[in-house]
Amino acid sequence: MKYANEINKRKSFAIIAHPDAGKTTLTEKFLLFGGAIQTAGAVKSNKIKKHTTSDFMEIERQRGISVATSVMTFEYRDVLVNLLDTPGHKDFAEDTYRTLTAVDSVVLVIDCVKGVETQTEALMEVCRMRDTPVIIYVNKMDRDGKNPFDLLDELEEKLSIRVRPLSWPINMGKDFKGVYNLYNKSLVNFLPNKKATDEDVVDLKDLSDSYVDEHFNEKDAAQLRNDVELIEGVYDEFDKQAYLDGKLAPVFFGSAVNNFGVKDLLDTFVEIAPTPRNRQSSTREIDVNEDKFSGFIFKIHANLDPRHRDRIAFLRVCSGKFERNKFYKHVRLDKDVRFSNPYSFLAREKNIVDDAFPGDVVGLFDTGNFKIGDTLTEGEKFYITGIPSFSPELFKELVNKDPMKTKQLEKGIRQLTDEGVAQLFTQHGGNRKIIGCVGDLQFEVIQYRLLQEYGAACQFNTLPYYKACWITGPKNKIEDFIRFKSANIVEDKDGHLVYLAESEWYLNTERANNPEIQFNFTSEIHK
Ligand code: G4P
Repeated sequence: MKYANEINKRKSFAIIAHPDAGKTTLTEKFLLFGGAIQTAGAVKSNKIKKHTTSDFMEIERQRGISVATSVMTFEYRDVLVNLLDTPGHKDFAEDTYRTLTAVDSVVLVIDCVKGVETQTEALMEVCRMRDTPVIIYVNKMDRDGKNPFDLLDELEEKLSIRVRPLSWPINMGKDFKGVYNLYNKSLVNFLPNKKATDEDVVDLKDLSDSYVDEHFNEKDAAQLRNDVELIEGVYDEFDKQAYLDGKLAPVFFGSAVNNFGVKDLLDTFVEIAPTPRNRQSSTREIDVNEDKFSGFIFKIHANLDPRHRDRIAFLRVCSGKFERNKFYKHVRLDKDVRFSNPYSFLAREKNIVDDAFPGDVVGLFDTGNFKIGDTLTEGEKFYITGIPSFSPELFKELVNKDPMKTKQLEKGIRQLTDEGVAQLFTQHGGNRKIIGCVGDLQFEVIQYRLLQEYGAACQFNTLPYYKACWITGPKNKIEDFIRFKSANIVEDKDGHLVYLAESEWYLNTERANNPEIQFNFTSEIHK
């Protein structure tokens, strides 16, 4: 319990959203509250522009800049908040999923006009797999969006989680007048283009307070009272434990661009969000309060800029204290490693760190020793678990265009896929190589990097698969299955068997024909 004080003041989280819902805007407002940035727009300028989908070099350049804001640390009300950034571009969704393995909770931003969108559902699925506590922020209330009650229903239905509003809007769009905070019974008035200050917050005994009648017209006052009565009738009291267990999501309403409802959200976040939690490992539960250090790599960022050909591995500290220049065991390689220049990410500046505690993220310079899921310890052999691989959405065969460079190609593709942006599958019992990615952009990046960094020329042939399914089940059933479907069976880099399904119909047919085999869209890196 040596580091309990450090651990208990830390909260590490990510903001997730479908592109355009307002993640960047909300991030920026949080940082302004935390005093981490002085000027609005600082985060925005680092954002991967949504519309430059075809120019991967430009996207990579912008990603390079965004490394500096990968983790933004600020203090708010004595809490040290680590905000882990996630790329907005859908082709980098895998990066986002990985980042979710390194946080203790998330804030999910929803656009009140669009409601739950595809990317929101995918992200939420990852949160549910891990029982990650989620707070929902319904953004853009200054626009005419969906009815808030309908939105709550949509959230519950599409995200498969119980919700509990903690604030409630008074109208929306042009008539948006503010929110009533159901948690601490205060009213925040909305004035467009004006930052809500403490003077705009009015504490009420309850909604019978005459302030409501003096301040709002009869219709709005009646509507607010009715709505709140309905909410209090329908929803149970907010259950913090259910939130911490990932079973219940508190909901806030606001308008990030107007800095509205953001303080309410942040105040509640620092109050209820979890501090760093224990982690499961391949051998035992790792108590966050253990004195001995452990941590794992959840993301690797390679820089395409030829002037700075460095790779940065992102390490999340799980227990103990990480120290600069101290030797740690790289469990997979069974090798002692130390880092002389680890850095922390303090909004837009890279700082060398001397030590880091559970919940913190440290950037380690890497020359190719790390892959996603690698664990560092003080000597004990275990892997931190709970770091899945997800089924890619696009599959292409890797074809070598220069037989003289076969070795370079093999080495290059192994190293590049260690970074986690693409997955390498090898034909079961053969040598055909299939690359799976979430976005088309990754294939271009791989082709470019294989040539630039390894001198290996390749081409990609599109394959008609729709999902990779990791298969498990009784040995004899698996053997029969791979005999029948040999053309569709590949192995991932860790030798796990994978069935590549051409379509949902094929997959369902195989599921029906092979009831004893499990077809999984995800696979634990360390089983
Ligand atoms: P993202 O990171 O989730 O992709 O979203 P981002 O914050 O970039 O916001 C997407 C767009 O939505 C931006 O407009 C932003 O200004 C706007 N926005 C964010 N919050 C609100 C809000 O509360 N109300 C309204 N009406 N709009 C909001 P843009 O035109 O794409 O960019 P910009 O030119 O305004 O920077």
